[in-house]
Amino acid sequence: MNAKAQPEARRIGYARPVTSVGRQTQPYGSIAPFAIGLSDTICAMSVRNLNQLLADTMTMRDLYKKHHWQVSGPSFHSLHLLFDDHHREQEALVDRLAERVQMLGGVSIAMSHDVAEATRIPRAPRGREEVSAQLSRLLRAHEIVLTEARTFARQAADTGDDGTNDLLVSDVIRTNEKQVWFVAEHLVDPTAMRADPAPDGDRNPLA
Ligand SMILES: [Fe+2]
Repeated sequence: MNAKAQPEARRIGYARPVTSVGRQTQPYGSIAPFAIGLSDTICAMSVRNLNQLLADTMTMRDLYKKHHWQVSGPSFHSLHLLFDDHHREQEALVDRLAERVQMLGGVSIAMSHDVAEATRIPRAPRGREEVSAQLSRLLRAHEIVLTEARTFARQAADTGDDGTNDLLVSDVIRTNEKQVWFVAEHLVDPTAMRADPAPDGDRNPLA
């Protein structure tokens, strides 16, 4: 007598293999605007600008984490903490920029390979750099972001996209300007560190 064929027991952790790539519901670069009183043309321009700024802000965020991990030297502890604070602030900007793109009916850039192709911030090496090079690299990246953010903010104001203008001015520009201040103050003139004797004019006449 033949035993009745039993179905193979389902293995723990079984998952169906992925056999096809999911269909895209909206291609990158296209606009499917909501009824927010802005024309398709204005939404498309803001989305294009915001996605550029998003790619650069994601790169800025990752640059801060790289430096947070790789920083070394006498100022290690303070810079390690400062770079992580700035990373968190950049991460908050990334989310606000990406969600603004979606609000305007666009598709936000998201994956690192796409960001690497789109960003205007120069590529950093994989290896460690000395602190002065890290600081200079960050300041250059901030300058790129600030220059384009001001241009995009003016374009948004001129076209009546006040929400985008406010995001760029109140969040992106102000955060980046503050971070430039905190980073630049770590660029110390080495000659100011020497414990030279005080010049005559600085001596206490009562001493
Ligand atoms: Fe950490």
